[in-house]
Amino acid sequence: MPIGVGILTISDRGAAGQRADESGALIRQIAKQHNFQVACYKLVADEPEDIKRDLLYFSDNLKLDLIFTTGGTGLSPRDITPEVTAALLDKPVPGIAEAMRLAGLKHTPYAMLSRAVCGIRGQSLILNLPGSPKAVAECLAAVMPALPHAVLKIKGDLSECAHPQVAG
Ligand code: MTE
Repeated sequence: MPIGVGILTISDRGAAGQRADESGALIRQIAKQHNFQVACYKLVADEPEDIKRDLLYFSDNLKLDLIFTTGGTGLSPRDITPEVTAALLDKPVPGIAEAMRLAGLKHTPYAMLSRAVCGIRGQSLILNLPGSPKAVAECLAAVMPALPHAVLKIKGDLSECAHPQVAG
């Protein structure tokens, strides 16, 4: 079974039709390159109840393996993606967000301004990504190599972990 993916873009301007959702499209493209199956996509404003409703639908109803959000992780007054996500998690997986910020810092000091959280709800691994396409590309490049293994472990795989080598 391919890994099932949901994409939730969180952007007031996107939802108002004032900005094209390049980040959502990029996540879809990268997911396909990794042979993941993008089952669902939605664009919402930075409204807590809308974000919560769609995350619950993707995880509890569709039971998607991976749920990527993009946007709303920063410091602006309307940025509430991490708070909404954290409240829904059964288990946080802080190392994924740490890896994204660490990788991002090699490109820009602004990477430390993303408050993204990642973790498990039910059988779904939810990852907050920052909003810009550049940030999406950098963050996904850092964490993609670990995600299929993460999905297997969430499903209860008990086999020994064979560690891929890290370049460099
Ligand atoms: N992470 C990476 N890897 N590359 C980036 O360019 N941009 C940062 C940060 N994370 C960036 C990044 C910036 S400028 C901001 S403001 C925060 O993500 C929050 O972005 P968001 O509010 O769109 O989620």
